[in-house]
Amino acid sequence: MRCIVIKNYLNNAKMDRQIAKVAQAMMERNRGDIRRIEHSLKVYGWALQLGINESIDEKTLEILEITALLHDIGIHVAEKKYGHSTSQYQELEGPQVAREILTTLGYAPDVVDRVCYIISKHHTFTAIDNIDFQLLVEADFLVNSTEDPLKENQIINFARNIFKTESGLICLKLLFPHLDFVIVPDKLR
Ligand SMILES: [Fe+2]
Repeated sequence: MRCIVIKNYLNNAKMDRQIAKVAQAMMERNRGDIRRIEHSLKVYGWALQLGINESIDEKTLEILEITALLHDIGIHVAEKKYGHSTSQYQELEGPQVAREILTTLGYAPDVVDRVCYIISKHHTFTAIDNIDFQLLVEADFLVNSTEDPLKENQIINFARNIFKTESGLICLKLLFPHLDFVIVPDKLR
């Protein structure tokens, strides 16, 4: 029993060090861009909280954590290449940068592929196909809702149409308790 506990601890410690390396790589690609570095770290924080609260399995949580740190990694490449970073260009350029980072860090191909898939569609909400993708979108919105000057009806519409998890909706309600959206996640209907 003790051996299993120690082994799990070491596995988690290893994963934490790897995540720290992903965060470092994200910062290097965004050197000097404090706003975007902080945005990615904030999305990571929300994603981790939502993933744990939703009790997702360890591998899915790892994919979510990595994706949160790298979801906007295509912005600088897009700006350099096209002069601006529309969501379409971000989705186009982000996966290649993420793949370079994660392959260099030795991540398994299936993890790299999943992270790159989510990054390639992270503004395309109709493509959401699993809890990792769903929680990334919710975590990103939780940050955007406080960073961007969103109108109240934009937040309400997003809550009603895009949010699906109980954890995400509760967090959004805690940020904006005065807004009129009811917490009725799909799984409770
Ligand atoms: Fe973002």
